[in-house]
Formats: sequence, C-alpha cells, structure tokens
Amino acid sequence: MTDDTLADAGSYKFGQFEKNAEELERLKLQATIALDTEKKAWETAGLQPGMQVLDIACGPGFTACELAKFIGETGRVTGVDINEELIAVAHQAKASEGVENVAFSSGNVYELTLPENSFDFVYARFVFQHLEKPQLALKNILKVLKPGGVLCVLDIDDNWTSFAPESDAFVKFIRNAGAGQKRKGGNRLIGSQLFGLLSDAGFSNVSTRIHPITSEEIGLRYFLGVAVLFRMEFLSKLQKLLALPQLRKIKKAAEAPNAWGSVGVFVSTGTKV
Ligand SMILES: C[S@@+](CC[C@H](N)C(=O)[O-])C[C@H]1O[C@@H](n2cnc3c(N)ncnc32)[C@H](O)[C@@H]1O
Repeated sequence: MTDDTLADAGSYKFGQFEKNAEELERLKLQATIALDTEKKAWETAGLQPGMQVLDIACGPGFTACELAKFIGETGRVTGVDINEELIAVAHQAKASEGVENVAFSSGNVYELTLPENSFDFVYARFVFQHLEKPQLALKNILKVLKPGGVLCVLDIDDNWTSFAPESDAFVKFIRNAGAGQKRKGGNRLIGSQLFGLLSDAGFSNVSTRIHPITSEEIGLRYFLGVAVLFRMEFLSKLQKLLALPQLRKIKKAAEAPNAWGSVGVFVSTGTKV
C-alpha cells in the first residue's frame, strides 16, 4: 500500500498485523461462523437473486463469494478493497469456491471509480468501524447505488459487548482496545451511530437492527479469540505489555463453568431515493 492508501485504511492495516496469517484465519472464521444469521439479515435488507451487488471493503472475499452464491448466476458481485494483498486472497477464494459471478479489484471507498447508479445493493461489512471519514464513504456509496438501491452496513458497538462472570479486566481491556482503535482513526461505537450517519447522508427508510451473537452459538473460545483477544493489535507495544495481566485475568474468568459472552452486531440499512 502507498502512504496515501495506508492513511485511508484507517484503523485496519492488514500487512501490519503482528500475525497476519492468524488474522486471515480470523476473517475466514468470522465470515462463516454466523453465516445463517447473516443471510437472514441480507434477506431482511432486501437482497434478491439477480441483483448487482458491491461488497465494499470486501477484504479476503469470503463473504463476497457467499453473496454471489446467494444472488445466483443472474446476479453479479463486485468486491473492492484498498488492500491488494487481500484482493489477491479474494481471487484465490473465488477459484477455490468455484463461483463465477464475482469479480474483485482494488479500490478506495474515498475515491470510488465505479460507474454511478450501477448497484442494487451495497454491502459494507466490518469496515465502518475503521473509517476516519464515514460521511465521505457514504457520499461515494450513494453515488454508485441505483435509485431505489439499498446500502446495508454491518458493524459492531462496544457498548453491546458483555461478559460474565463480572470482570474488571474484561471491561478495562475492551475500553483500552477501543481507545487504541480510536487513536488509529477507528470507532468501536459506530454501531449505534449508523442510524444518524445514514440519515444525515440522505438515505431514506433508514433502519438499524441489532443481532446478538452469544458464546452459546459460537463457543466461548471463539468469542474470546475473535471478538476480544485479536484487539491487542490496536494497542501500542507498551499498552500490549500492560494488557497482558488483564488478558490472563480474562482467560481465568473464562474458565468459570458458566462463563458467557456476547457481542451486538448492528445491521443498518438505507435506500437511495
Ligand atoms: C475488518 S476487515 C473486513 C473485511 C471484510 N469486509 C470482512 O468482513 O471479512 C476491514 C477491511 O476494510 C478495508 N478498508 C479499510 N479502509 C478502506 C478504504 N478506505 N477503502 C476500501 N477498503 C478499505 C481493509 O483493507 C479491510 O479489508
């Protein structure tokens, strides 16, 4: 990535993670573990067979391939991401999944070069929490949507992350990781702000739903690994050191027989008039 695109990638810079291979595995797991729930959200948002779909910030393309299967051969998915390394992985995902109706290319949501009025459905999955300029991203997405087309944003909000038994270490870790992400240009409280952002950008019929994903569904190990521990990546070297005792306490608390955790996944939709 160039210096400019690095800056535009906000708080998510794949390639600069300490353990990129692990991060790729996390993205893969995150794309599959609650897929049935996600497909229901697509249906509710109005995704239909035959649609022209843009998966903006598609990352390694796992979800774009699922979208392509969902809309069938008469539809087409375009996956765009700022990170060329991830676009290369997306090409491999397309080949191994054997889906024809998906194409990937590198691109920046702040400088979209796609034709205006060309998509029925734009999907933005776990990217808005990383964007420093969400309003500019929405303005550009609005341009490429057809009139009547739908934007569907799926993201997270730390105010909806919970864990039992009560753990000060957990609360502090989540707070510090959120502050670390904010320093890098991100926003871990984006979920509850989506309604306002989409409304202000000029979308109509804006609606936000929250889908709780619990450790009962995905397992406590996954909950801790994917929803919590990977967030060490947002801390500085010193903060990582300081967080280690917190992590030990969280892992200890998670050994309690009935330990439980959940995250709220926000799905916000809006229509282009
Ligand atoms: C957490 S990953 C999510 C990837 C994928 N949507 C998924 O759900 O697996 C965030 C993605 O946003 C991409 N991204 C960040 N800033 C971007 C920008 N300005 N334009 C396009 N993609 C961007 C990153 O490269 C990364 O692939």
